[in-house]
Formats: sequence, structure tokens, C-alpha cells
Amino acid sequence: MKKLIACGVLLLLCLGGNDDPATHVQAKGKQVSKVMAEKLKHSQRVLEGIAVADFKKIETSADQLIELTKTEEWLMNKTPRYETHTNDFRRAAETLIRKAKDKNIDGATLAFFDLTSSCVRCHQYLRETRDARLPGSIDLDKVFALERKVQP
Ligand code: HEC
Repeated sequence: MKKLIACGVLLLLCLGGNDDPATHVQAKGKQVSKVMAEKLKHSQRVLEGIAVADFKKIETSADQLIELTKTEEWLMNKTPRYETHTNDFRRAAETLIRKAKDKNIDGATLAFFDLTSSCVRCHQYLRETRDARLPGSIDLDKVFALERKVQP
């Protein structure tokens, strides 16, 4: 019995030992990538909805985008400028929902343009802050690989 308990303790120690900071950062990075990939997928769906005037698709995809901005992974950056970009993104998604409810395709198209601009501005901001710290900016190869992966 004592041996069994010792074994159990050892097993727990081994499992717990995996929680070193490097593994933690890696796991977190993976989750962030997942949220960002979801973001790309939903914004592609919005575009699809606009292209075929599927207002329900526009509305649900924009709603999913707003939900993503509430996740811990999205909010990992806590600078005021990141928050401003997040608010711009959210506002554009909210406008998209409103325009879709009104079945206003031109309004939805404009809101999609605002949404896309907010993607670009936030990424630009991220690149600039990274450049200031060097090395490492958004890895474009990774972005393209991801785009291929999330094709519906
Ligand atoms: C408020 C800031 C912000 C906005 C707005 C934003 N993103 Fe991002 N995006 C990030 C962050 C943070 C990452 C994580 C990678 C990084 O830190 O470079 C990221 C990464 C990505 C990636 C790469 C994922 C990877 O694992 O390398 C894609 C693709 C992407 N975003 C698409 C979009 C699209 C499409 C939009 C607009 C519909 C958008 N983003 C809007 C902050 C933002």
C-alpha cells in the first residue's frame, strides 16, 4: 500500500513537473494562435455573407468576432493603444450586426471595410512595438499557412 502511495506521489510530481514557465508560454501561444485563427475564419465568413447578401451569416459571424474579443487570449495585450484598437474592431463588428439586421448591404460593406482597417491598424501597432524591441514581428509565412488551414 505504501508503495502504491509512493507511486501515486511520484506520478503527480512528474505530471506537475510539466508546468515549467517555458511550457506554459508555449501552450499559451498556441491558444492565442487558435483564437486568432478563429478571428480570420469568422471575418472570412462575414465577407462571404456580404458577397451573397446572406444577412444571417453576416450577423452571426460578426457576433462571434465580438465574443472573441472578450477572451483572455485576445486581451493578453493590456496597453491603452491595444485597447483602442480592440474597441474600434468591436464597434465595426457591432455596426455590421446593425446593418445586417437592417438588410443594408452597402452599410454592411462599409462596416466590413472599417473592420478590415482595424485589423490592419492593430497589426501595424503590434509590428511597431515589436520592432522597437527586436527581434520578432508577425511571421507572414505563418499567417499564410494559417489562412490555408482555415479555408472552409
Ligand atoms: C486589437 C488588436 C487586433 C485586431 C483588431 C486584429 N488582430 Fe489579428 N492579431 C492580433 C494579435 C495580438 C495577434 C497574435 C500574434 C501577434 O502577437 O503577432 C494577431 C494575429 C493574427 C493572425 C496570425 C495568427 C498567428 O498565429 O500568427 C491573423 C491571421 C490575424 N491576426 C488576423 C486578423 C484579422 C483578419 C483581423 C480583422 C478582422 C485582425 N486580425 C484584427 C491582434 C489583433
